[in-house]
This record gives sequence, structure tokens and C-alpha cells, in this order.
Amino acid sequence: MRVPFPSTGGKRDAVLGELRSMKAGDTDWQNGRAPLFVFRATKEAYEVGRDAFFEYFTENALGGKRAFASIKRMEEEVIQMALDLFHAPADAQGFFTTGGTESIVQAVRTCRDWTRARRNAPTHRGNIVAPHTVHPAFNKAAALMDLEVRRVPAGPDFRADPRAMGAAIDPDTMMIVGSVPCFPFGVIDPIADLAALAKRRNVWLHVDACVGGYMAPFVKQLGHDIPEFDFALDGVSSISADLHKFGFCPKPASTVFYRSPDRARYNSYDFNEWPNGRFVTNTIVGTRPGGGVAGAWATFRFLGADGYRQAAKEMMNMVARYKAGVESIPSLRVLGRPHLSIVAFGSDEVDVFRVAEIMEKKGWLPGLLQAPKGIHRMMSMIHAPSMDEYLDDLRAAVGVVRQEGPAEKAKIAATY
Ligand SMILES: Cc1ncc(COP(=O)(O)O)c(C=O)c1O
Repeated sequence: MRVPFPSTGGKRDAVLGELRSMKAGDTDWQNGRAPLFVFRATKEAYEVGRDAFFEYFTENALGGKRAFASIKRMEEEVIQMALDLFHAPADAQGFFTTGGTESIVQAVRTCRDWTRARRNAPTHRGNIVAPHTVHPAFNKAAALMDLEVRRVPAGPDFRADPRAMGAAIDPDTMMIVGSVPCFPFGVIDPIADLAALAKRRNVWLHVDACVGGYMAPFVKQLGHDIPEFDFALDGVSSISADLHKFGFCPKPASTVFYRSPDRARYNSYDFNEWPNGRFVTNTIVGTRPGGGVAGAWATFRFLGADGYRQAAKEMMNMVARYKAGVESIPSLRVLGRPHLSIVAFGSDEVDVFRVAEIMEKKGWLPGLLQAPKGIHRMMSMIHAPSMDEYLDDLRAAVGVVRQEGPAEKAKIAATY
């Protein structure tokens, strides 16, 4: 429906009041009703990130090099702190972006241009070999650049199958991918095996740690079984890691890293054929919020490694409680063995989509997997206070579906 452009301006309080009242129809994320989209470690870390963001509400990170030295400095410090976390070589480089998709598109383009230069083939159309579970951002990148993505079935544990991926590599393969963890099942791919494969076949390995990059290292430090995934493995060429997910920083904020300057140099876009002079960016977007950079810098400094470890500890305890609660409900089972805080569960006996429909009526926005059918949640401490309520509602919903029998068909479809 066409909305007429307002002919006159409104009063500040009225406008803001209307805006706030529109929220009434949103999912109640503050009480853990959204299965994804929002993240939190502690209230204090959230407030520090938010306050830092609003300190830089107007500044544009595009101007970091010329006008806002403080933004440039914070951006560089965040990148260096992250390179330290990821055991990167001294000359590794990284860039601040606005999200996981942008980090991935940048990595794919960088790999494409590095491959073209190495092969002396300026129009080479490469392919990307990835497990079936990787994020659609790789297909988006391929669609933008006319590349091919070969999605290879994962193993029975939902982790990438290096042997099957090896079989899919051909002379045009430029990149292989592993996730830390993959979004559908929350399992970490065998990155060490993929790194060995990349070295053997002389291709680029991108590690998509958008979800786990800023959490997995701390969970590992707590003694959990977390496979190696970073630059300590010398077959890893690039890593994407989102600050605005389990880095607990305000949106939009992500990072992309390259093992060496000879790779990183292809990340930048350099253009000078127009009236206004040289335009060099390391992101797809031009204008970027300074707040995203300030929020990330302040969150790193506020939490520090001990703060992230504490957050990881609380989250892993919550996830253990969640998994045990789900598996105590007859008919349900967790899919695979999730490494971090994405957990999906399914059932051989009841239609979990029907369960999700009943849960939705109680205000729980469904997160769904379509193959195999599952209910999916990417959890942080936002989900802790309502955990028992969720599990009680889940148990009751499963009971209803068992009573209904298969005649009652679910109408719901899986949407991201
Ligand atoms: C594994 C993985 N990679 C990449 C992305 C894309 O991140 P963004 O939504 O910030 O673009 C996501 C988003 O959830 C993800 O789960």
C-alpha cells in the first residue's frame, strides 16, 4: 500500500511515541522469544557497546583515514587484537566490515583476484567447493561474481566430509570452505583436515567463523573439545568472524582476515577514473557507521579475555541445560553434537513443524530446519531467563502433537 509522504512534520514526542508503539507487534526478543538475530553476554557489556556506539553516532567510518583518526585507530586495534586471538602470522592483515555476508563476499572476491593473478588468467571463472551446510552468503558472493558453488553433502555427523570435498575439486577450484560452526547444526567442520586438503590441492581455504570466531577460542580455553580452526593451521588462507554475533558487539560489525599481505592486497578496491579523485575502500559499502567500530573496540576492552571466558562459561552451562531438557522430552533428540550454542533438534515420531506451530502461538518465534526437519535456536544469555518456560511449553506442545496424530498437518515453512 502506498503511504503518502507526510505533508507536514510531526512533534518529536508524537513521532517517537508512534515508533515505540509499533514495537508492540514485534517478537519479544528481550524475553528470549527470538531464536536468532539478537545476542547478549551481560547487561553491562551490552550497555558499554551501546554507549560507545552512540558516542560515534554521526561519524562515518569511511572517513576514518582522513577525518576521524580515532576511528582508524580503534579499527586497527580491533583487527590487531583479533589477529592475536587467531594466532595469525606477524604480517597477516584484516579489515573491519559491516557483517558476515560482507566479510564473506570480500574474502571470495579477494580469493578470485588472487587466483586470477597467480594463474595469470584475468577472466578465470573459478568454483568454490563447500559443504552443503555453509551459509547462503557464499552463493550470494558467487551470484555477484558469476562463480560456481559446489555444495557437497556433509557426513552423518553433519560435519564437512573432506574426502567428498576433495573429490569435488577440479582444476578450476579456487576456494574450499569450512564453518566454525555451520549455522544449521552448530557443528564445527574438521578444519585441520580441510587445511591439509587445501595445501595438498593448492587451493585457498576460507574458514567461516562468523558465528564462532569470537566464542570458540574462549570455549576451548575452558577445556571443551573445540577443533583447531585458525591461522595456527597453515592451510588457512582467510577467516571471517562476526563481532555482532558472539563478539557481543553492536551491529553492524564483522571482520575478515588474510594470512599474508600478498593475499590481503586483493581485498581493497581502488578506483580513480572519475572527477573526484582516488577512492580506495576495503568494504563493499562506502559509508559505514563509526558506531560499529567504537562499539566493538569498547566491548573488547570492557570484556577482555576473562570477560569473554566468563560469558562462554555461562553460555555453555546454559546450552548443556537446554540440550538435557530437550532430550528429556520423549520423541525429541538433538541433531548432531553441537560444539557451541547453536542447537537443533528433531524427531522420528512427531512432526516438529507442528510442534513449532503450537509454540508460535505461545509467542516463540520458530527457527526451523527443513532437511532434516528440526527446530533451531542460536542462543546467548538473552535466552537464559526463559529457558524453563521454553522447555515446559515444548514438552506440552510435543504432548499435543502426539495426541493429534499425523492427520494434523503443519502449514508452517522453514524461513531464515
Ligand atoms: C555461519 C554463518 N556465516 C555467515 C553469516 C552471515 O552473517 P550476516 O547475517 O552478519 O551477514 C551467518 C549468519 O547467521 C552465519 O551463521
